[in-house]
Amino acid sequence: MKEEIRVGLIGANKVGLSHANGIAIAGNGIKLTAVSDIVRERAETLAKPSNAAVYTDYLEMLKKEKMDVVIVATPHSLHCEQALNVVNQGFNLLLEKPVATNIEDAYKIAEACKKNNVKVSISHVHRFRQELQSAKKCILEGRLGNPYLVMDFFGITGGTHIPSWVYEKELSGGGVLMYGAIHDFDWTSWLLNSRVKEVYCETIPSEIGHGTEKAAICTLYFENGVIDSLTAGNTDYMMINKTRSMDIYGTDAMLRVTTGESFYYNGHDTVYEEKTIKDNPFQKQIQEFAAAIREDRSPWITMADGLHSLAVCLACYEASATKKIIPLNKFLNTTSKN
Ligand SMILES: NC(=O)c1ccc[n+]([C@@H]2O[C@H](COP(=O)([O-])OP(=O)(O)OC[C@H]3O[C@@H](n4cnc5c(N)ncnc54)[C@H](O)[C@@H]3O)[C@@H](O)[C@H]2O)c1
Repeated sequence: MKEEIRVGLIGANKVGLSHANGIAIAGNGIKLTAVSDIVRERAETLAKPSNAAVYTDYLEMLKKEKMDVVIVATPHSLHCEQALNVVNQGFNLLLEKPVATNIEDAYKIAEACKKNNVKVSISHVHRFRQELQSAKKCILEGRLGNPYLVMDFFGITGGTHIPSWVYEKELSGGGVLMYGAIHDFDWTSWLLNSRVKEVYCETIPSEIGHGTEKAAICTLYFENGVIDSLTAGNTDYMMINKTRSMDIYGTDAMLRVTTGESFYYNGHDTVYEEKTIKDNPFQKQIQEFAAAIREDRSPWITMADGLHSLAVCLACYEASATKKIIPLNKFLNTTSKN
């Protein structure tokens, strides 16, 4: 078994810090050994606790460092070029969502991963949360009956509290959907064990930057017949209370997941709530990826999952522009689970 799993990180700011913190407590020989950011101080700050090597040029890091995993945690428009360089040099890749800003680039990365026979996972990290794990268990045990409706609310503080490039369509590919609610597209598909077939969506443009949305209302039609209504919004002011929750209604019961807080179940004659106690999904994510490398198996969250969540975002944008229901197979080679 591989004793050490050496992790390199490209992009050392907001989510880079979450990855570094997760790696720091992961144990099992998992170590942050190299960090790259064009802003040297950011790379230095994250590298310091583990005495990792610091780079301002990620290509130099790829050339000089021996690494078992490279995490790409940079603005969306950089994902394609950086991911291709990572996998073409034979490194396993943990890529932040969305895979890319368009589906053509996303498929280029997927092909390159196959060609180079490297492992790849997309950082849909919320799936590792306690409350979502409880929801999955509940559905698998059949305690919901047949799910038929999802009501999902994704609210985050925007404005100056998220990076400015997110408001530039060329750099981000989109706003609150691409940067945030894409996670909901992923976890709902995982929970329901079904892909999205068609979408309808209305968006509200942001006054900040160019060409992104600050809010969206989406209807997702899943292959298994479930309908999901998702409302997503950024605010310019700090939101004090979290507004991220999802209800799933089934024929026998409903459940509610409140991100980072709790799991709630309401059946015919059973009602209970589990509070999330102490949870670090980034720690669990890197542990899972390290286990996939050691066991030489596919990581749990796959490139196919990343292509699916990106395709849902792109279909939403097209639906919003055309006022039409858009089938997902416009963007994906196949809608089947693989
Ligand atoms: N999984 C999650 O929960 C989650 C949460 C937030 C953000 N994200 C994702 O993480 C990624 C980064 O988002 P963020 O909020 O951390 O952005 P950010 O702007 O805070 O950080 C990006 C960093 O990348 C650096 N960078 C830019 N060009 C670079 C280059 N060529 N080489 C090395 N570093 C470079 C920037 O200097 C910056 O420090 C995005 O894909 C975003 O969607 C994921």
